[in-house]
Amino acid sequence: MKRFVSFFLTVLTALNLNAQTPKYLDNNAPMEERIEDALSRMTLHEKISMLHAQSKFTSAGVPRLGIRQLNMDDGPHGCREELEWNTWSPAKWTNDYVVAFPSLTCLAATWNPDMSALYGNAISEEFAFRGKDVLLGPGVNMARTPLNGRAFEYMGEDPVLASEMVVPYIQHVQQNGVACCLKHFVLNDQETDRFRVNVNVSERALREIYLRPFEMAVKKAKTWSMMGSYNLWQNVHCCHNDALLNGILKKEWGWDGALVSDWGGTTNTQEAIYGGLDIEMGTYTDGKLRESEFTYDDYYLAKPFEQLVKDGKVPMSVLDEKVRRVLRLIFRTAMNPKKVIGNQCSEAHYEVCRQIGEEGIVLLKNEKLLPLEPAAVQGKRILVVGENATRSLTQGGGSSELKTLRDISPLEAIQQMYAGCTVMHAQGYVSGRAVYDRVDRINADENKRLHDEAVRMAREADFVIYVGGLNKNHGQDCENGDREGYNLSFGQNELIADLAAVQKNIVVVTFGGNPYAMPWLRKVPALLHCWYLGSEAGSALAGVLSGKVNPSGKLPVTFAQRLEDYSSMRFGAEGYPGTNKQVHYKEGIFMGYRWFDLPKAAQQNFLKSEHAQDLTAVGQPLFPFGFGLSYTTFRYGKPTISATGDYGWTVTVDVTNTGQRAGKEVVQLYVGRKDKSGVARPVKELKYFTKVSLQPGNTKQVNLFIRRDDLSYWDEKTHGWNIEPGTYNAYVCASSTDVRGVVSFKY
Ligand code: GLC
Repeated sequence: MKRFVSFFLTVLTALNLNAQTPKYLDNNAPMEERIEDALSRMTLHEKISMLHAQSKFTSAGVPRLGIRQLNMDDGPHGCREELEWNTWSPAKWTNDYVVAFPSLTCLAATWNPDMSALYGNAISEEFAFRGKDVLLGPGVNMARTPLNGRAFEYMGEDPVLASEMVVPYIQHVQQNGVACCLKHFVLNDQETDRFRVNVNVSERALREIYLRPFEMAVKKAKTWSMMGSYNLWQNVHCCHNDALLNGILKKEWGWDGALVSDWGGTTNTQEAIYGGLDIEMGTYTDGKLRESEFTYDDYYLAKPFEQLVKDGKVPMSVLDEKVRRVLRLIFRTAMNPKKVIGNQCSEAHYEVCRQIGEEGIVLLKNEKLLPLEPAAVQGKRILVVGENATRSLTQGGGSSELKTLRDISPLEAIQQMYAGCTVMHAQGYVSGRAVYDRVDRINADENKRLHDEAVRMAREADFVIYVGGLNKNHGQDCENGDREGYNLSFGQNELIADLAAVQKNIVVVTFGGNPYAMPWLRKVPALLHCWYLGSEAGSALAGVLSGKVNPSGKLPVTFAQRLEDYSSMRFGAEGYPGTNKQVHYKEGIFMGYRWFDLPKAAQQNFLKSEHAQDLTAVGQPLFPFGFGLSYTTFRYGKPTISATGDYGWTVTVDVTNTGQRAGKEVVQLYVGRKDKSGVARPVKELKYFTKVSLQPGNTKQVNLFIRRDDLSYWDEKTHGWNIEPGTYNAYVCASSTDVRGVVSFKY
């Protein structure tokens, strides 16, 4: 009897609860029904309030209905320190310290999607723990110029590499109930004049290169939100660009997320209403220029929009379409019962940080100097030179800067790793403070003193480890400005050359998000590039220097000899950074390795046909896209190819570790037309890659896949994808210029 009564009471309670719980609060109800139910209960003002900022980093919910606000925060490499509700000043919390994960260019340099999955899971645990619902990142703008101040936040020059590496990051962030806000959509490929520049780009280049990573993130990762970029396309701001946001993103790609403006990227109400914008975020009253208290109601999508609806000048349906997207974002995150609690600064997160850093470091040169095994250099004198050996590279850089709990610097980690040696440090140069909006002028006398001191100490040492490169100062790798040139700054070229002149055992280690000139390259026996490694920078670097870790990173960008070798730099100011607020991507699809791969004659013809200002010959890259050395060696067998049903083709190749150490190799597959093509096409384009781990002497059979769509190009006549029948080459490569085997196939 007792059991019957308790069962009966249970059923009654459940029925009763159901009667009380409105559908929009019922986590078991279908999402779209929850949305419609919530919408039906909201007033006009409540709907409008959801569509714009209510503070620096939040947009409103509906307190009356128990619908949560959205808590957003930067950035792609970690959860930004808490700022005040309504100013850019730090809130001075004492519990918002985080792990700084490596820069996304470092993640791309791992060429290992498993690292992206680890990254996405760990960073979203930190965001969830801080109560954040929207992570303002990742960024997948393209590295068309090595001067872009924000390239360190992005994933290189190739759309396939960026797509494959960003998708797992987004999937694993969103699995934890935190939304990604993929940015900056689209063509935000420079910082100079970012608020006003209109980008002129061919339809093919737009579709095949610049939109591609965003398209894959929408179709494969289903990013829940995206951020419009400040710049314009077709002379319309991308934060409310009907053709881009309604035409391509929401209609053609079928995207159901919420489009957030960049901060202050909204410029007028009509375009904001009809141009695809869903949440207007910003800084000041008019979104850009003036600071005043609590005037978020003055935003374009606030009172002005509300009045237009009230006056019947804008149909309620237009408003509701936006509110549905914002409600969907809230139910996916802030009101998602499966959203994780997360954690902050756990050892697991530091481990992920270090692992990604270790796999992203690229060994560019090594003439029998590395690894410096601690046992082999016991008792030796190691001089560490350079400001980046001790400088924090997690502060500065703009909105991606982080307040970290624990960083281990290269110097500290080298001192730990080589405890049996005498480790000294000479700063070598000084670069000034990490400021956002101006280049810190440095004291030349101070730099000369530091230079001379370092060279004197280098003479006495057994080994020199130079740790320099770029940093997060304005004019280096920093938002809201581009680099001033292709050279390393602060007298580093002269310093490296002078150090190499007195010390043959010198390893150059550079940090930075962009390639740079290396006039001293022939003089140094070893070179590592580290991007930005985050909180475990020292550990990751020391692991590679000592041989504890065998480097396996590959370049996600081309390192050219000279700035003018880049195709984007061949068309004067018109090509970069633009004139009269117009920039022209005159290089079209021939950007990055697609340009350097062209035969000299083809390069010349292209430059002439596009009326380039500079027709001089283009130098071969210092280090090509996809390049990276290892402490071991790999042999590739002869590739074979087979058709795999209606899927496409499978290329199979044996890869053997022919060295003495375990190592990882990134096997890259590029595809290009063998037959003549009806349109200009790159020689070959990256279509697939896989990273294999091999013990010494072991061989693995590696399968590389080509899908039918991989053969397509964007046809500007039909405004759609097209595949030319005929014969194609599949290039099995160790880098974009290191072809280990070619097989052809017919379509
Ligand atoms: C900045 C950046 C954007 C960032 C936002 C919030 O201007 O362009 O990437 O997420 O504002 O800080």
